[in-house]
Amino acid sequence: MNDNIPQTIAIIMDGNGRWAKQRGLPRTAGHKQGADTIRTVALAANELGVKKLILYAFSTENWKRPEGEVGYLCKLPGLFFNKYIRELMEKNIRVTFAGELERFPSDTQKVINRAVNDTSHNTGLELCLAINYGSRREILLGIQKYADEVKNGRKNDLTEEDFSQYLFVPEDIDLMIRTSGEVRISNFLLWQLAYSELIFTPVAWPDFNKEELIKCIEEFQHRDRRFGGLTK
Ligand code: FPP
Repeated sequence: MNDNIPQTIAIIMDGNGRWAKQRGLPRTAGHKQGADTIRTVALAANELGVKKLILYAFSTENWKRPEGEVGYLCKLPGLFFNKYIRELMEKNIRVTFAGELERFPSDTQKVINRAVNDTSHNTGLELCLAINYGSRREILLGIQKYADEVKNGRKNDLTEEDFSQYLFVPEDIDLMIRTSGEVRISNFLLWQLAYSELIFTPVAWPDFNKEELIKCIEEFQHRDRRFGGLTK
């Protein structure tokens, strides 16, 4: 691995359910293990010098899952931060989120807001949890906000860079990884992935770890990123 570390990495954490099923466990056991993988991968990304890691933890479509599973996913942030917030603080990691928090139960909202506030002065990795996040919805909300500003007298002079500021995630993504073999984007960061390198690995999210992250970064470093231009 050389020192060309992707600054922004986004991950679709897929395969928790299948991982659990293969072991004769309930799907929630896969999510629990998946939450521990978040810790492992965040610490690794922080050590490697990644600036921002965005993890797709709950999509706007996930509400369609059975009530028990949705309930468990709502409890996971609480379990996760109880266990790991101290370590995240020690490692200087800053927690943020992308998505509409309002739809979650109030205790879920509270634990997430507390983690965001407690870590807000940290200067290491930004660990951004995409929760109740959907990219089309994100774009729509951005358009509505901009339209309101224009209605209130703003000049209609929007640039691509300006529009990014209306989104939950304003940064372009350097590397997007999806675990567990599916080859889809699933309404994740549609605007921000415009020039990302995409990696689809067969490894299930609960089995993903530092070595797998390094393998993905090495593959990223072998790609020839031209952003529509020609190779130097
Ligand atoms: C996709 O696997 C995974 C999810 C929908 C949930 C991901 C959530 C976590 C990893 C934990 C979240 C924790 C915190 C702290 C926010 P799947 O269930 O679709 O797996 P399958 O495709 O094998 O069924």
